[in-house]
Amino acid sequence: MDSLKATIDLQKLPAHIAIIMDGNGRWAKEQGQDRLFGHYHGVESVRNVVEGCAELGVGYLTLYAFSTENWDRPAEEVTGLMELLVQTIRKEVETLNKNNIRLHVIGNLSMMPPYARNELQEALTITSVNTGMNLVMALSYSSRWEMIQAVKTIAIEVQEGSLDPENITASVFEKHLCTSGFPDPELMIRTSGEFRISNFLLYQLAYAELYFTHVRWPDFRKINLYEAILDFQKRERRFGKTSEQINLVI
Ligand code: IPE
Ligand code: IPE
Ligand code: MG
Repeated sequence: MDSLKATIDLQKLPAHIAIIMDGNGRWAKEQGQDRLFGHYHGVESVRNVVEGCAELGVGYLTLYAFSTENWDRPAEEVTGLMELLVQTIRKEVETLNKNNIRLHVIGNLSMMPPYARNELQEALTITSVNTGMNLVMALSYSSRWEMIQAVKTIAIEVQEGSLDPENITASVFEKHLCTSGFPDPELMIRTSGEFRISNFLLYQLAYAELYFTHVRWPDFRKINLYEAILDFQKRERRFGKTSEQINLVI
């Protein structure tokens, strides 16, 4: 594993890695267990990957933990996930602090139960002084919700006269998204063999490199992260230009 890690070019790390942590339920089923068992084991992968990214020096890591659509899952699973979230935050906040990691949350927090919201708020405040890696948890998040709330806020500003529609640029729009101030993800990883985006950072992923693996989230470890980063480093990112333009040596 260390030899794989050594082949990563630290000068060419993705500034922001975003992960759709998928496959907990199927992993549990394969073990003859219920879905929550999979979610509990997924926490170990979160720990491992956060550590892996922080060790490498990745600036931003966004983890899709719960989508707006996930509220429609069976009540028992939703409650179990909220409890797991609160437990994990409470347990991990000290480690985040020790490693200088700052926690952020994106999503519609007004839908979260108050006890979960309070726990999150506390962790956000405690880690707000940290200057190392930024760990962004996407909770009760969906990209369409995010964009609609941005449009609503912009519409109000226009209506009140504080914003001229002529001045609505990409950068103004981005300031109204939950990810304001974060660089766009350069690498997006989805586990468990699904090849879709599922309402995740649709705007911000415009030029991200996409990496899909069959590994289920509870089995995902640093080694899988290294593989994804190495794959990313082999790609030529053209941003609409030609290969010749990208490789032009002046
Ligand atoms: C991802 O695993 C975790 C959440 C969406 C909360 P899933 O729970 O979606 O697992 P699968 O996709 O059903 O296997
Ligand atoms: C996406 O996974 C959301 C999270 C990982 C939190 P889902 O399992 O909810 O997505 P679909 O339903 O397979 O698209
Ligand atoms: Mg899933």
